[in-house]
Amino acid sequence: MSAFRTKPVSKLFEQMADQEHGLKRTLTAKGLVALGIGAIIGAGLFVRTAAASAEAAGPAVIVSFLVAAIGCAFAGICYAEFASMIPIAGSAYTYSYVTMGEFVAWVIGWSLVLEYALGATTVAIAWSEYLNNLMGGAIPYQWCHSVLQTSPNGVHGIVNAPALLILLVITLVLIKGIQESAFINGIIVLVKVVIVIAFIAIGWQFINPANHVPFMIPAGTPGHEGTFQHGWGGVLGGASIVFFAFIGFDAVSTAAQETKNPARDMPIGILGSLAVCTVLYVLFGYVITGVGRWQEFLAAGKEASVAYTIEHHMPGYGWLAVFVTIAILFGFSSVILVMLLGQSRVFFSMSNDGLIPKVFSELHPKFRTPYKSNILLFLFVGALAGFLPGDITGDLTSIGTLFAFVLVSLGVWIMRRKQPDIPRPFRTPLVPLVPLLGMLICGGMIISLNHRSQTVAFLWMLIGLAAYFSYGRRHSKLNDPELDQSANLATARR
Ligand code: ALA
Repeated sequence: MSAFRTKPVSKLFEQMADQEHGLKRTLTAKGLVALGIGAIIGAGLFVRTAAASAEAAGPAVIVSFLVAAIGCAFAGICYAEFASMIPIAGSAYTYSYVTMGEFVAWVIGWSLVLEYALGATTVAIAWSEYLNNLMGGAIPYQWCHSVLQTSPNGVHGIVNAPALLILLVITLVLIKGIQESAFINGIIVLVKVVIVIAFIAIGWQFINPANHVPFMIPAGTPGHEGTFQHGWGGVLGGASIVFFAFIGFDAVSTAAQETKNPARDMPIGILGSLAVCTVLYVLFGYVITGVGRWQEFLAAGKEASVAYTIEHHMPGYGWLAVFVTIAILFGFSSVILVMLLGQSRVFFSMSNDGLIPKVFSELHPKFRTPYKSNILLFLFVGALAGFLPGDITGDLTSIGTLFAFVLVSLGVWIMRRKQPDIPRPFRTPLVPLVPLLGMLICGGMIISLNHRSQTVAFLWMLIGLAAYFSYGRRHSKLNDPELDQSANLATARR
């Protein structure tokens, strides 16, 4: 059979009808927006904003946020059409299975591992750094760094224990169930948003308008000779750096099968969380580059740039720096939660389709969560977070995500031509213009990421191809058209 065989849409609807045996439908639109914000605001905002302004965009980092947001919005609108039309766990993977065929679906599923698993890894490593900052550096170097890292005074890392710890705690929360996960996530989202707004509101009084001039980094500035490091080029370079800050809104679509009214709630969840975050990000970028000066962030502040800015430019607000750091720790936790949730749901769908082993779709007899998948995922993500440095994992997350965005945008267009009659509760406007712009902007961001990450991502895809042809293709449920796709769920419950 062809590797481009598609999964019949009727199969998906059969799966959706099998609610008795599937995941529980508990989420509402509000819960989805919270889930989205929970995944979105994290290391990208609190770490990458200052870095993007220092390295590429200057105060115009607020325009970088807008560029990245526009790319995400085009792709997000396409996600919304798919998610409302096919409200089933699996997200981009599932959509491409019905539109572009099994092989493309596999490629997407494989690149989503980069997004979700490596995203969780990256944020867990950043969490560990912030915890150590909060504790005044009390954790011995060797216990919070990977074996590949060595301190300036020659201490070798052994394992990043705090990163492992946070991943374990969140895995246990996920095994307990999505309703509880969504509740805990709601509290964290609130704390996180309050702190971002507090920084914007209090910081506003300390803005020095001179720091916003010139708005873009002028050509000829020493150290900014590269094409993507000054002027409009810098704004675009900055966009690919801050893109990481938007990753996560698409994770909302992975919870479609657990949403009460997906047709209405999916678009609200995806676009709503994206809109809220864009407004906060632009204001945040305006304040941080107005209170501090972008040149400072090249050498000072680094990961803790927000705390640094408060301590050095906002006299009398030292307490806010401590609160911000604590909120960041909580904030990172909710990002990790949604990433791990998204990953286990993608595996759930791939396993149901026979492309990866059955163990990834076996549900817990009481909690009805894919607990074995969560445990295996913890072992995988834990090994990466415990033993690899964060810089290796960061850009890979962005590449995997952007690649999925490009293919989802393309998928909407293909689906409109191939199956124009399927009911679409939410329709992407101006097809094919919107999908094309989504592909163009997201593709552009992939190109402006660094070569090392592009090479590693390519190698990852080669491993994926080997896995598909040696396992996935041979075990695919599509080999047996008579087999009910939902049977696996029922079997797993026993
Ligand atoms: N958007 C997420 C973050 O900023 C991945 O941490």
